[in-house]
Amino acid sequence: MLKNIVSAKQFDKATIEHILETADQVRSKNYDPNALSGKIMATLFYEPSTRTRLSFESSMLRLGGGVISTESAAEFSSAAKGETLEDTIRVVNAFSDVIVLRHFSAGASEIAQRYSRVPIVNAGDGNGEHPTQALLDLYTIFSKFSKRDITIAMVGDLLNGRTIHSLSVFLALYPKIKLVYVSPEALAIPKTLRSHLKSKGIKFKETLDLNVALKTADVIYQTRIQKERFKNETDYVKFKGLYIIDKNSLKQLKKTSIIMHPLPRINEITTDVDKDPRAVYFQQVQNGLYIRMSVLLYLFDKTSKKTR
Ligand code: ASP
Ligand code: CP
Repeated sequence: MLKNIVSAKQFDKATIEHILETADQVRSKNYDPNALSGKIMATLFYEPSTRTRLSFESSMLRLGGGVISTESAAEFSSAAKGETLEDTIRVVNAFSDVIVLRHFSAGASEIAQRYSRVPIVNAGDGNGEHPTQALLDLYTIFSKFSKRDITIAMVGDLLNGRTIHSLSVFLALYPKIKLVYVSPEALAIPKTLRSHLKSKGIKFKETLDLNVALKTADVIYQTRIQKERFKNETDYVKFKGLYIIDKNSLKQLKKTSIIMHPLPRINEITTDVDKDPRAVYFQQVQNGLYIRMSVLLYLFDKTSKKTR
């Protein structure tokens, strides 16, 4: 049983599958709407968010719990007066039963868990990880493909894209899945992920060419160039237009393939792709609700024992 969800590396296959099965039950409305009655979740977001924060808040409310939050923690919490993350976590512990934390520093959730009695959920830490996004990504992939011998191409800012880092760690538990990374050299996967994959004996391909991936992959996981991680605006602009999926790209894609994106998208998938049945990024958003309800049930030990 995990107390905190800080990194994808904490998970084994059984835990992942238990959370995915619970998400299935939630999807089919098989859950107690008062399961978390009397529990309070605090959302502490030091970086902007639409999906993660609102889906966690909606999940807690749908399970009968309560939510407290600070509007843009970096700006409106006492962090703006200079309070440290450690002290903030100690303080919020007095008011809540679980803390969902998004922070601009990689490693922030790892630090937070050391100062917390209540579970910490990493909702994105700088260019580190975003494990609950990766759970919903995995849920989306496995709902589309029952076989595990598929090829997954991750595209774009693989250096800074935290969803890629967590998802890759999960995918490494399924060695039949082939991984292809498509990026410019400067935005290739970070060393830490590279050595993690190596330590698990996972081989992967790296290419600069999106077209190769479009023709062969079953899953194209497109990402946003992470503007907020660039020191230099010119570098950002250089990479921003590099990999764009548009209607023409769809011609190269297999009929059975899917296009994913954690969102928000900027220009990297044109809106004329949205109607194509292979575009599943808005389904990912919906799955995010099921997964986060499942994650909360898991953390409070309220999942059905049958699926363990
Ligand atoms: N929303 C995701 C994240 O916070 C992806 C992104 O922002 O590009 O990591
Ligand atoms: N996918 C994701 O984390 O979205 P937000 O940044 O809007 O939370």
